[in-house]
Formats: sequence, structure tokens, C-alpha cells
Amino acid sequence: EQDPRIRRIASSIRVVPDFPKKGIMFQDITTLLLDPKAFKDTADLFVERYTGKGISVVAGVEARGFIFGPPIALAIGAKFIPLRKPRKLPGEVISENYVLEYGTDCLQMHVGAVQPGESALVVDDLIATGGTLCAAISLLERAGAEVVECACVIELPELKGREKLNGKPLYILMESH
Ligand code: PRP
Repeated sequence: EQDPRIRRIASSIRVVPDFPKKGIMFQDITTLLLDPKAFKDTADLFVERYTGKGISVVAGVEARGFIFGPPIALAIGAKFIPLRKPRKLPGEVISENYVLEYGTDCLQMHVGAVQPGESALVVDDLIATGGTLCAAISLLERAGAEVVECACVIELPELKGREKLNGKPLYILMESH
């Protein structure tokens, strides 16, 4: 049922308790990147799912969506758009604020990066509360793109972030508890 590649990917991810603060079990994907087969398998699983689906845009969320998004974009023949934290992009931008546990954050996208009617995939390493992906979806939709799906390596299901995506499909490789 489950693809056998997923077990190796899962075991390559290091879980660091109490990082960056007490009570958080940090899912450290840098150890996955140290295993070239696990990294390749991760990209391949997404590429197999999205090849031939008419996706013209892969949007990656800063910072770890910049690691997993580009290999998928290259393999499926789509462009890559970085969705960045504030004051990083030099051109004209549109912004979406979103709520964090303490305070708010913001994602920005370059105006003109995507054209109305394009089909987009949003990529990040992990969905927790869903606030980040929700902001990413809004940016693309405001620019007139259709978001086909969001793709993450890991979901933290207890936080029910999936419910914040307004019915937008979310594809994950594994859950973490
Ligand atoms: C993490 C993760 C996602 C986001 C998910 O990024 O990589 O982008 O949190 O959280 P959410 O579903 O609750 O919104 P982080 O905020 O650590 O930013 P960074 O990658 O720039 O360090």
C-alpha cells in the first residue's frame, strides 16, 4: 500500500526535541538531504505524481520549499517561483499576512511571476497549523493562478492544518506525531 521508498525517507529525517523551543519536536530535513537516495526518492515521488498534469508553476515557500520545489519544477518542465519572507524580493510584490502562535508573519510574491490561468503546485517541507500554505495559496490565487494541490514531505496531523486550506487538496509523504 505505502510506497517502500517512504520508509527510507522517513527514517532519514531527524527529530530534535525542544527545538527551537520547549515542547516542539523539530522535523529536521537536513539529514534527509545527506542521503542522496532518500533525497532523490523524495523528488521522484512528487515528480511521478505531477508529471503530465499541466502544471506550469511550482511555488516554493521560504526556506525549505526552496529545497524541494526546484527539482520538481525542473523535472516536470514548470517554472519555479520563490514565495519569500518580507523585504527579500527586489521587484514589485504582493503580500499575505498570516497568524503564527505568537504574532504574525508574511509571505511575498513578485508581481508578474505568474499569469492568470496558470496551474500551480505549492511545495513546502512541512504543514503544521496550515497558516503558511494558506497564505501561499492566496498569493497565487490573487495573481489569477489556479492552485491544483499543495505538496509537503511531512504533515503534523494533530494541528489540523489541512482544514485551513479551504478544501484545496494536500498531498503528503508521511505524517509525524
Ligand atoms: C516552517 C515550515 C513551514 C511552516 C509550516 O517554516 O518549513 O514553512 O513552518 O508551519 P504552519 O503550517 O504552522 O504555517 P518556518 O516558519 O520555520 O520558516 P523557515 O523555513 O524560514 O525557517
